[in-house]
Amino acid sequence: ITAFFQPKLLAGHRVLVTAGPTFEALDPIRGITNHSSGKMGFSIARAAREAGAEVTLIAGPVHQTTPRGVRRIDVMSALEMRDAAEREARSASVFVATAAVADWRPASHSEQKIKKDGSGQPPVLHFVENPDILATIAQSARGRSGELFCVGFAAESENLAEHAKAKRARKGIPLLVGNIGPLTFGQDDNSLLLVDADGVRELPRAPKLQLARELIAEIAVRLPATKP
Ligand code: CTP
Ligand code: CA
Repeated sequence: ITAFFQPKLLAGHRVLVTAGPTFEALDPIRGITNHSSGKMGFSIARAAREAGAEVTLIAGPVHQTTPRGVRRIDVMSALEMRDAAEREARSASVFVATAAVADWRPASHSEQKIKKDGSGQPPVLHFVENPDILATIAQSARGRSGELFCVGFAAESENLAEHAKAKRARKGIPLLVGNIGPLTFGQDDNSLLLVDADGVRELPRAPKLQLARELIAEIAVRLPATKP
């Protein structure tokens, strides 16, 4: 609680945040995406900035206002988000991945609008798996050495604690934050489950900005040593 009210918890840090959905194009006018609003990620970017960090926010297609003092990079697809995140992670000390990255993208992208062919048969769509941006960055040299503190988010429809623990281990990250269900999008309130090496702890239901500030404080105490 005391830490929460200490100003400039993240002074000297560079925080990278991914937020929102990705959009995976099928043709020039269609694609697949999801209902992520980006609210949690934008709140975290804002809270990190308030805490004195230099903040870069990589956003998929969302309708959110850029927090004051935050550098925003807009992307559409998972591959674009991956390229931007890998580039920006090189100079970051904290990476918070809140984006709801599409797990799959269409295997091919049509340059022209896909038309009905008159046969009454729908097109067969093929998909390939997108790269795991968080896992890749966490496994990079800076992630492994701890110079880059990586935080993941997970939304699950069942068995949150179990899935969250497994996900934290699989991605090789120190902190995984679970969205405590039911799966609702664009809401202002949420509650979070923090999963780290010590176990599981809950941040009770609160507005997303308040949760974001609490999470920033939780991240700050886990960082190696605050730079001067
Ligand atoms: N993530 C990512 N790149 C992906 C998929 C996920 O960076 N291609 C990140 C998300 O931003 C989030 C975390 O990984 O911080 C967990 O995402 P989630 O979708 O819950 O996990 P997945 O590994 O995709 O597993 P699944 O969706 O099958 O549960
Ligand atoms: Ca996923």
